[in-house]
Amino acid sequence: MNNRSLGTTGPQVSALGLGCMGMSALYGEADRTESVATVHAALEAGVTLLDTGDFYAMGHNEMLIGEALRTAPAARREQALVSVKFGALRDPDGNWSGYDGRPAAVKNFAAYSLQRLGVDHIDVYRIARVDPDVPIEETVGAIAELVEKGYVRHIGLSEAGAETIRRAAATAPISDLQIEYSLISRGIEDRILPTTRELGIGITAYGVLSRGLISGHFSRERQLAATDFRAHSPRFQGENLQHNLNLVEALRKIAEGKGVTVAQIAIAWVLSRGEDIVPLVGARTRERLSEALGALDVTLDEADLSAIEEAVPADAAAGERYPESQMAHLDSER
Ligand SMILES: NC(=O)c1ccc[n+]([C@@H]2O[C@H](COP(=O)([O-])OP(=O)(O)OC[C@H]3O[C@@H](n4cnc5c(N)ncnc54)[C@H](OP(=O)(O)O)[C@@H]3O)[C@@H](O)[C@H]2O)c1
Repeated sequence: MNNRSLGTTGPQVSALGLGCMGMSALYGEADRTESVATVHAALEAGVTLLDTGDFYAMGHNEMLIGEALRTAPAARREQALVSVKFGALRDPDGNWSGYDGRPAAVKNFAAYSLQRLGVDHIDVYRIARVDPDVPIEETVGAIAELVEKGYVRHIGLSEAGAETIRRAAATAPISDLQIEYSLISRGIEDRILPTTRELGIGITAYGVLSRGLISGHFSRERQLAATDFRAHSPRFQGENLQHNLNLVEALRKIAEGKGVTVAQIAIAWVLSRGEDIVPLVGARTRERLSEALGALDVTLDEADLSAIEEAVPADAAAGERYPESQMAHLDSER
């Protein structure tokens, strides 16, 4: 597996990371045994970056990763780097009630994450959404104190906009910005990507398959539980969904012409956008993981890239990437 650097100050990580969220939350039922087996298979294949959030099913995802690390061969466990998001507030019913980036809260979140993961340090630590009531300097400054004490190795950001990225980078070294980036979510290209590149900050890209929408496996017939993110995502509704699935069919023609799958084209496209970008794939099963890893062997030449651009132009998607109430929390969209 090739490695990429998370910015100029971050660690070397595998060119593809494994996003573990869907193993606990937001995409319907997941199988715990298969989830752990998927993490093990990823580590075995050379994936070193595992991404989670303390709020993914209220600690469930961290405990799952903790179990997977404990039961992995020592050599694989030692190579694994865990990236953790914190700050989202939940209630016992699972409702979301804002973000907390106050320094005391940052340290409190970290203390619980270390315990749930069963590790003595977190490799990359970041607030999931910028807390509008707390200057980013204070949130990042609190993580920097955790770095000094050895509890955290690197500081990341998530869904931060250009101005916040600059302020954070002026406070402490930032390894990477985690943000949505895919063939149908290209908002970072105008201001955010030039800013991270200027400052030597890497990108860990999520939603590379647009939460399964452009994986080639999603269909109108798919039944979604009310707790499934996609049941409320504008891109998965009615006419928007049909429009977006038509884009997938255009991509499928290109994929078939190359003897690969739609998901592999979508992941390979993100990989092709720069060595500073590490796609996080949300595989929940070994089968999906194996398909995703296959993208590392897909080469896209100029003709392929133009055909893809023609099939899915930059602003081709119908519907915003989050429901309106959640768009309001995205500093990156300001
Ligand atoms: N910072 C943030 O705000 C933020 C937000 C969201 C996610 N994340 C992180 O980024 C990670 C990835 O995001 P995501 O899960 O939304 O991304 P994704 O990779 O775009 O979507 C994952 C979904 O795509 C479907 N899929 C179909 N074929 C696949 C394949 N070959 N490989 C992988 N998935 C396939 C899977 O559904 P089926 O299993 O049903 O096939 C899976 O649930 C998350 O796990 C999380 O760690 C961060």
